[in-house]
Amino acid sequence: MDRDALKRAAAERAVALVEDGMVLGLGSGSTAETAVDLLALRVAAGLDVVGIPTSERTRVLALRLGVPLTGFEAHARIDLAIDGADQVERGTLNLVKGLGGALMREKIIAASAQRLVIVVDDSKLVAKLGGQTALPVEIAAFGWPSTIDRLRAAGHRPVLRMAGGIPFTTDGGNHIADCAIDTIADAKKLDAALHGLPGVVETGLFIGMTSFVIVAGENGVEELTS
Ligand code: A5P
Repeated sequence: MDRDALKRAAAERAVALVEDGMVLGLGSGSTAETAVDLLALRVAAGLDVVGIPTSERTRVLALRLGVPLTGFEAHARIDLAIDGADQVERGTLNLVKGLGGALMREKIIAASAQRLVIVVDDSKLVAKLGGQTALPVEIAAFGWPSTIDRLRAAGHRPVLRMAGGIPFTTDGGNHIADCAIDTIADAKKLDAALHGLPGVVETGLFIGMTSFVIVAGENGVEELTS
């Protein structure tokens, strides 16, 4: 099976959890977008749900496919959020997210969701977070060079994410520092340390936010719980 088929298999399992009347968090990235595609088919068949997107890209997709949208002003609590991830740590189910640049909105939605279901293919599973991908850290656009300096001084090896020759700007108007961090021994401690640096808006560490991860691999779909 190719990667797209694996992502679809994981997304299918997650979308099967959606029930009539739910307020949904709609994730970002290719796997979460596949879930939105599949959700749209169920909406077309009569499913009554509303969604809050984690990115402008997902908002546009959902609108195009006819998935009704809402916002926090109307619904402060989300029943179920379905999102992808860049790394999933076996055992703890702690995550690294944000390679797609949507980490701040993703974390707000994850924190507001009664249940966060993560959908990935098995290339995302790691024994320990870190190393495999950079750790995205969302930083304020104001004063970004000084925030990058602070991240560097603290040993996090940041690289400002660029797009088209200028700093990448998130949906929230911030920039991203991709930190080349090796194996993360204590994710909670690292998250707290990063949040302690002026200019850091959010980190891509999602700790204790999910207890259910759907992983698709060559041998089928596996459900990980913690
Ligand atoms: C978006 O900012 C990330 O947190 C995504 O959830 C992540 O990049 C997963 O993307 P894929 O499903 O395309 O791998």
